[in-house]
Amino acid sequence: MQNIKKTDPDIYKALSNELNRQKDHLELIASENFVSEAVLEAGGSILTNKYAEGYPGKRYYGGCEFADDVERLARERAKELFNVKYANVQAHSGSTANMAAYRALVKNGDTVLGMSLDHGGHLTHGHPLNFSGIDYTVESYGVEKDSETIDYEAVRRKALEVKPKLIIAGASAYPREIDFKKFREIADEVGSYLMVDMAHIAGLVAAGIHNNPCDVADIVTSTTHKTLRGPRGGIILTNDKDIYKRVNKIVFPGIQGGPLMHIIAAKAVAFHEALSNDFKVYQAEVVANARALSEELSRLGFKVISGGTDTHLVLVEVKSLSGLTGKDAEALLESVRITSNKNTVPNDTEKPFVTSGVRLGTPALTTRGFTPDDMRTVAKLIFDTLMNPSNAFVLDEVKKQVDALTKAHPLYQ
Ligand SMILES: Cc1ncc(COP(=O)(O)O)c(C=O)c1O
Repeated sequence: MQNIKKTDPDIYKALSNELNRQKDHLELIASENFVSEAVLEAGGSILTNKYAEGYPGKRYYGGCEFADDVERLARERAKELFNVKYANVQAHSGSTANMAAYRALVKNGDTVLGMSLDHGGHLTHGHPLNFSGIDYTVESYGVEKDSETIDYEAVRRKALEVKPKLIIAGASAYPREIDFKKFREIADEVGSYLMVDMAHIAGLVAAGIHNNPCDVADIVTSTTHKTLRGPRGGIILTNDKDIYKRVNKIVFPGIQGGPLMHIIAAKAVAFHEALSNDFKVYQAEVVANARALSEELSRLGFKVISGGTDTHLVLVEVKSLSGLTGKDAEALLESVRITSNKNTVPNDTEKPFVTSGVRLGTPALTTRGFTPDDMRTVAKLIFDTLMNPSNAFVLDEVKKQVDALTKAHPLYQ
């Protein structure tokens, strides 16, 4: 950052502070990760200078031959990674990818059936203030009360009742493997399209640890920056040529202008990394770490939603044991340099901005080399913090241990 340091000391200072924050905190936000230096380089590369509206071989600007090379590589690698026929890699974000997917499959006013937000769904699955809730008639399914997992028979009944044109599977805060084949059967029975938003689990899917929705869904969307460990962005995948053509038109010129070619280059680099054997090993460690975290939190007395995890994510109800809301727990953990986010738990009695839970994830710490033993220590630090909110001595001890853990697993040296 030598140039920024010279020309823009204010931004240099903020970026340096952020680098130190990332190094010094235990990053447990389930949707975050630390990209490789190669991904950072591509994301900060000279392709930021290039306009390339259109698609490879058919651009609205001159000088696109190398941009074409980059986008073709990104598409080919995405297709190989997810074993799918067609890939659009231009979506600026997961939300834009979802907007394109909806528009390719349904018309304004049509009924869509997605997972309710307070049971783990995402804003773009039908929040009233989001385009999805504004443009479509939204119906929701949730998790079953006791198991806190998706009851596929209940989804089926709901689908038969509301007759959606589109069913959305996938979530932001669901710790269990989702059975996409069952969703396909339901969609076929009611004659609807199936869209899977695999934003959270894309890395697990790429590594073959989670079943692959591309085998059964009409469209699969994803972010590239969560478990997949790429730059911030989206992708849209399908095996259907007509749907692919529609998606391409909707992304450009329908929703977006020029693609972010530097980010597409960074996506290509990340996909290349994700095709490696190391990445498969990494994803297995992500899940082993989440299991260790979840088991230890349960053993210490916290209520872990659904009783555990099959993925990178652990949803913990903190209020019954600690008396703290999710909001207070998040703030307290942040004060000892443990970063998480408050999250509603199924049938939460607190408001969405307060909540009774926190959502934890292991992708970022696993990238730093944390092991299941480390994760058990992290669970104990979370327990000590939340059970001693005003004990300065305990909180100080936690900070020292956070320091020791982050120093033992350095980041971006
Ligand atoms: C399931 C799911 N879909 C879509 C998105 C949206 O991605 P973005 O923030 O890139 O718009 C998220 C982000 O958290 C998500 O969890």
